[in-house]
Amino acid sequence: MIKKCLFPVAGYGTRFLPATKSMPKEMLPIVNKPLVQYGVEEAIEANMTTCAFVTGRGKRAITDHFDISYELEHQISGTGKEAYLGSIRSVLDKGVFTMVRQREMKGLGHAILTGRSLVGNEPFGVLLSDDLCLNAEGMGVLSQMAELYHQFRCSIVAIQEVPMDEVHKYGVIKGENLRDSIYRVDDMVEKPAQEDAPSNLAIIGRYILTPDIFEILEETPPGANGEIQLTDALQTQAKRGLVMAYKFKGQRFDCGSVPGFVEATNHVYENYYGKD
Ligand code: G1P
Repeated sequence: MIKKCLFPVAGYGTRFLPATKSMPKEMLPIVNKPLVQYGVEEAIEANMTTCAFVTGRGKRAITDHFDISYELEHQISGTGKEAYLGSIRSVLDKGVFTMVRQREMKGLGHAILTGRSLVGNEPFGVLLSDDLCLNAEGMGVLSQMAELYHQFRCSIVAIQEVPMDEVHKYGVIKGENLRDSIYRVDDMVEKPAQEDAPSNLAIIGRYILTPDIFEILEETPPGANGEIQLTDALQTQAKRGLVMAYKFKGQRFDCGSVPGFVEATNHVYENYYGKD
């Protein structure tokens, strides 16, 4: 069973300035719940109950969020307002939260490598909380991927078809469609120009990684944007063995962009708010 999920949460959130000047972008709420809590709930649903945060300076609000606030508990205990704490209390009851600080920003691959001491030598999930994934009809994306892992025992990336003029924002795969929504990855490129993209199948922020990724990352030179890219390490893994890509069931909102964030807010308000 995959027990741990890594959350790289050290990024700056410049697209949301000034809101993110002194507040982590992961704490921006979609209606009344911070983005990162949606991610943690998805991980816990997939039985990845150890949530490991790779944080950075200015991100303490995230670790405080996943701890008890004694003052608040004291203030509202026994009042009608207690119910508002319900969703975070149940997360705290089910999860264990660990963290390590990334001192320098050298890319997603570097963030994953920084999380190595929290993960150890076992397969693990990775969740980028900017990508909010919801599946009203059934299992969350990480649960879907954990099921697949039991069949394939290799690294798996979640993918989605995107318009060709957006491929430059993503890691993009080329793969052989084995069945239904499952591809064997032959090639992957981080943030390709439209004319160089091998397809329009973009990686979104959900991964299951086998622990050999750490040794590969140690040897991966900086790639796109001068950063150590997880996509490049996965490409090495695909060349040496097997990496799968999975077209997940559900809806994904790019909450790293203002339009995606607003769309997610409207969607959650209309479909979920006040209904649990
Ligand atoms: C990261 C990954 C990229 C992936 C994307 C999904 O990019 O490097 O491969 O497609 O997340 O959101 P970022 O959005 O951090 O630039």
